[in-house]
Amino acid sequence: MNIRKVVIPVAGWGTRSLPATKNVPKELLPIYKKPVVQYVVEEAINTGLTEVVFINNQTKTIIEDHFDHNWVLEELLERKGKTELLEEIRAVAEMASIISVRQKKQLGLGHAVLCAQGVINDDPFAVMVGDDLMFGMEPGIKQLVDVAKAEGLSVVGVVEVPLNKVDRYGIIQGEEYAPGIFRVRQMVEKPAVADAPSRMAVVGRYVLMPEVFDHLRGLKPGVGGEIQLTDALEIMAKEGRLLAVRMRGRRFDAGDWAEYLTANIYFALQDEELRDDLVRNLQELLSCK
Ligand code: UTP
Repeated sequence: MNIRKVVIPVAGWGTRSLPATKNVPKELLPIYKKPVVQYVVEEAINTGLTEVVFINNQTKTIIEDHFDHNWVLEELLERKGKTELLEEIRAVAEMASIISVRQKKQLGLGHAVLCAQGVINDDPFAVMVGDDLMFGMEPGIKQLVDVAKAEGLSVVGVVEVPLNKVDRYGIIQGEEYAPGIFRVRQMVEKPAVADAPSRMAVVGRYVLMPEVFDHLRGLKPGVGGEIQLTDALEIMAKEGRLLAVRMRGRRFDAGDWAEYLTANIYFALQDEELRDDLVRNLQELLSCK
């Protein structure tokens, strides 16, 4: 099984991140030196997913521009002899082949994925949420691609979350039939804490078989009045056709301020030139009463 396409929905309005996202897409907010969505695309590329399909809206086309050449800037950097920066900027423009599809109404994540059907056709494909970051020894989405290829089934990425946070996620229930791999029996979108079937929460990483489009087409709006991807996956779970992989690595939800800011510090601390100053400043802040 060959999986080369990745759908990255970026058409939402980012209301949790206002006012920063009034005119700047939340997927372009910087995490240290790079915009959030660049980390997501790099994770895809490092997994061999080279065809990127952005699901976009009319106000956020600047996202696909980030993965294209900026000739004026490149010419300027060349003239000034800033070779290292020039190479970095060019590499971003050349890292992936980009297709952009409009989601004309923001009807939810499930609807955003359905918008990709025309470019996916009958191939299995990955979905990566454009503001969810995953870091570790191996690319997050690769962990799902490996299992989907071996089993020929759709796979969702899950992480364990504290009980008081289950109502923010899609939650699965299933049996662990191999270390870290579950056959999913049930999926619920944002359950009340008392009703959650487990603490295993779906994060923004999926590998899906094209049958998902048939289920998405028939859906009515679910939780929050949105067409929920979880509701289509729940049908596949009931048919025994959905697996979950407990993801290894550290996850950051860039739509949540505490996690967004932590991700900035995480990356900045890895820069040797910045580290000492940053640690000193943080210690100073923490010692202030
Ligand atoms: P979120 O629910 O986190 O994004 O969707 P949102 O709607 O932009 O954010 P809030 O909740 O108002 O702050 C996860 C991803 O799915 C995309 C978003 O852009 C985000 O990257 N999305 C969501 C779409 O592409 N279309 C939609 O209709 C909804």
